[in-house]
Amino acid sequence: MKVSEAIKSRITVRQFLDKPVPEQTVREILEISKRAPSGGNLQPWNVHVVAGEPLQALIKDIEGKLKSGVTEDPEYNVYPPDLIDPYKTRRRIVGQQLYDLIGVPRSDTPGKLKQLARNFRFFDAPVGMFFVLHRQMEIGQYADVGMFMENIMLLAREYGLDTCPQEAWARWPQTLKEHLSLSDDEMLFCGLALGYKDETAVINELVSERETFENFVTLHGL
Ligand SMILES: Cc1cc2nc3c(=O)[nH]c(=O)nc-3n(C[C@H](O)[C@H](O)[C@H](O)COP(=O)(O)O)c2cc1C
Repeated sequence: MKVSEAIKSRITVRQFLDKPVPEQTVREILEISKRAPSGGNLQPWNVHVVAGEPLQALIKDIEGKLKSGVTEDPEYNVYPPDLIDPYKTRRRIVGQQLYDLIGVPRSDTPGKLKQLARNFRFFDAPVGMFFVLHRQMEIGQYADVGMFMENIMLLAREYGLDTCPQEAWARWPQTLKEHLSLSDDEMLFCGLALGYKDETAVINELVSERETFENFVTLHGL
């Protein structure tokens, strides 16, 4: 598969098949993805991969907490509290497109929360990953981890797999600290679901918009 094909075919998948991903595949994807660049070659990423029983235990724990109304202080603000335009509008549009697709009306808050909660099952993917950094790290290192994650997401395409990056997991720092045995110095940055896309699921039909070239590129001298 050409890199351009991997980039164009990568979408955020939010419904996976009940089909296991071979352990060897997971190992190969991570082994190759570690060639991601990082400032000063810090390689600031630590990845926790969960599948099988530990994954089920985590899902059950969070389901119980959601049912009883337990919440945690999020690890960080996923978005700035007063998100400005055009970012605010872009976020609103993609959210609206998603809920329209699955038939959840704008006013249906419980329906939206139910969809949000699907994050915490990794959208039924058989493999979940968590990206953890040392708390000492700065903005540059978060970019490094993003590049590492993108390697994983593109390489997944080559293996016939799909992904969903998930900052939603930042809502459960305490639970994840316990399940992953993280130290106080470690910070949960992002989750990522890995599995086979359910081609029949309507939710996977969402093709998110992108700005036109002119709206995000400024050419100087060319
Ligand atoms: C770092 C990161 C975190 C994300 N977190 C979530 C998430 O928690 N749940 C979710 O459903 N989608 C999540 N997304 C997916 C975005 O909504 C998606 O990338 C965006 O709408 C563009 O759509 P596309 O990935 O299909 O091109 C995340 C994406 C990124 C890059």
